[in-house]
This record gives sequence, structure tokens and C-alpha cells, in this order.
Amino acid sequence: MSSTYSTSPFIGKTYGVTIRHLTKNFGPVTVLQDISLEVRPGEIFVIMGPSGSGKSVLLKHIAGLETATRGEVRIGEFDAADPSTRDQVHLALVFQAGALFSSLSVYDNLALYPREHRLADEAGIRQRVMRTLQILSLEKAFNKFPSELSGGMRKRVAIARALVMEPQLLLYDEPTSELDPVMSATISEIIATLRQQTAVTSIVVTHDRDLALSIADRIAIIMDGRIRAVGQPNDFRQPADPVIANFLNPVIDFKNPRFKQLENNHE
Ligand SMILES: Nc1ncnc2c1ncn2[C@@H]1O[C@H](COP(=O)(O)OP(=O)(O)OP(=O)(O)O)[C@@H](O)[C@H]1O
Ligand SMILES: [Mg+2]
Repeated sequence: MSSTYSTSPFIGKTYGVTIRHLTKNFGPVTVLQDISLEVRPGEIFVIMGPSGSGKSVLLKHIAGLETATRGEVRIGEFDAADPSTRDQVHLALVFQAGALFSSLSVYDNLALYPREHRLADEAGIRQRVMRTLQILSLEKAFNKFPSELSGGMRKRVAIARALVMEPQLLLYDEPTSELDPVMSATISEIIATLRQQTAVTSIVVTHDRDLALSIADRIAIIMDGRIRAVGQPNDFRQPADPVIANFLNPVIDFKNPRFKQLENNHE
């Protein structure tokens, strides 16, 4: 992989992310409440939390796709909400739903950004694209269109597209959802190897406990739009906080199932 990822003019510089008192309202609803976090340069920082807790919205603020109601997000010294920051910092976001261009083949989805930014000549781009597809076991799908792929394949193409962009800041939204256990482990290995080789700062939103505990430098748990805890993986193996313990290690209880509790609450 090193030859594939060592040629970019962007590689070599890496950025931390500072989030200060970030609050986001959508109309009357507060989705993020006074979030402050410091992601260090070169760190693999994992964000976990229940569905709807605000993880994707938080990532979109870092990517400059949402603007804060209050507070700020900085990438190094740059304001994430300022469109010109994208000219300074090479950032890639792997969207939760893939967000591939449906009219482009897998190959052209991957080649689009390197072509636009002239990261290499066409032969160089081809080599880079095919090598990245190979890493993700997608080389046979290079001429397929997104509608012809399985959900897991689309997911991998979205990751591959981010990797060929040779980013300095990589944001992954649920990179292993819809993937089988072996491919999930492969993705964890890729995230860790890329960081090792290029010092890329990686922020990973995930529900995948194995991924989080095996590759994170630090983990933040977000609940109801607030930070509940930040720590190292070891802090979360047997968490003292019963709310976090129940989130990370939920016990299936047939005698007192959760959906019955919900029904009772609504009676
Ligand atoms: N553009 C938007 N307009 C209004 N509400 C939004 C918008 N985007 C997100 N929300 C709301 O913000 C809340 C948090 O959404 P978000 O997508 O960040 O959740 P999440 O933690 O990523 O959940 P999941 O694990 O299911 O992906 C949800 O209640 C969602 O409906
Ligand atoms: Mg989400």
C-alpha cells in the first residue's frame, strides 16, 4: 500500500480537530449540545453512541457540510465552516449511505477527484484506482454502476473513493455497517494501516465495538447530543457507568424485553 499512498503532495501534513462548545439546532430541536472535543493530529478517534444521538451531524460539521448554531470547529488553524478551508486541508468523508454518483461506474467514481485535482496523470490514476479497488476486493466491479452492487460493495466503493483522494483528514461514518465480519476486520486494518503509513487523522463514527476497541486511540461516547465520556479503549472494556455499559454490552432479556417497556411507557 505504501507506493499507492506516498506520492500525494498533501501527504506529510496532518491536522488535529478542535470542537468548541458546538451546539446545533434544527428548528426547535437541539441535536448537539455544547460539544467540546480535541482530536489530536494523527489520532484514530472513534465516536460511538445510540442511533439518533447526533454522530452524523457532528461529522458533517467537521466536514463543513453543516454550520453550527453556536460554537466552532477548527481543523488545525482553519475554520471548518469556511469553504476556503477545503482548499487548504485535504479532507474526505465516507458517507453513511455511500453517496456514490449513480451515473458513473465504480472506476469513474474513484477517478473523479484525482482527475479534477490532477493528483496524477491518467496512467497514475488508473494504477492508484485499481490498486485501491484490489485492496477492498473490488477489482472485478470496476466497470459496474452503483445500482448493480450489493449494499456492502457500495460501502466499500465509498471507502475506496475516500482513500484514492489521499486525504489528510479522513472522516468515516459507519464504515463497517452492512459488511460481513471478515470485511469489517479488513476495514479496521485499512484504517489503522493508513494512519500508520500517512499519519492521517481519522475520525470514525461506528457502532462496531470490535473496530473501536481494536484500533481507536481514544473513544468518545455521545448520547442525546452530549458527550457522555471520552477515554482510551481500555476504559470502555468494562465501563463503570451503567448507561455506557448497557449501551456497549446490552443483555437480551426475554423476560423483560425493551419493547414491552416502551409499550408500557406509552400506556
Ligand atoms: N438536516 C436535518 N434536519 C433536521 N433534523 C436533522 C437533520 N439531520 C439530522 N437531523 C436529526 O438530528 C438527529 C441526529 O441525527 P444523526 O444523523 O446525527 O444521528 P446518528 O447519531 O448519526 O444516528 P445513526 O446511528 O442512526 O446514524 C436525528 O434526530 C435526526 O433526525
Ligand atoms: Mg449516522
